[in-house]
Amino acid sequence: MKWVKVFDSPQIADLQFSDTNTLKIVIGKKEICLAKYNKQYFAVSNLCPHQFESLSKGKITHYGEIVCPLHFYRFNLRTGAECQNRTNELKTFQVKVDQTGLFIYC
Ligand code: FES
Repeated sequence: MKWVKVFDSPQIADLQFSDTNTLKIVIGKKEICLAKYNKQYFAVSNLCPHQFESLSKGKITHYGEIVCPLHFYRFNLRTGAECQNRTNELKTFQVKVDQTGLFIYC
């Protein structure tokens, strides 16, 4: 595991996000869903543990959850837990932002 730079500056990262969208980031063989909620970035595994839909096609709720577009299961962005314990947790990844860019630890 190591820090991987995803964007070259916080300004470039900010331009990629509205309040509800997410981005799929591929680092090596890992597919990661990067989301911004409440001015903070979160990175979780991109494939839904239920039936493997891409969570980067999902939306973010006002409660800091990502909603899978296939069956609408909701996952907490901080913990990765599904809000009704209907399936396994998402893997979560640390994110850091400084003046040199946005980094994901994976
Ligand atoms: S595939 Fe995500 S909730 Fe079913």
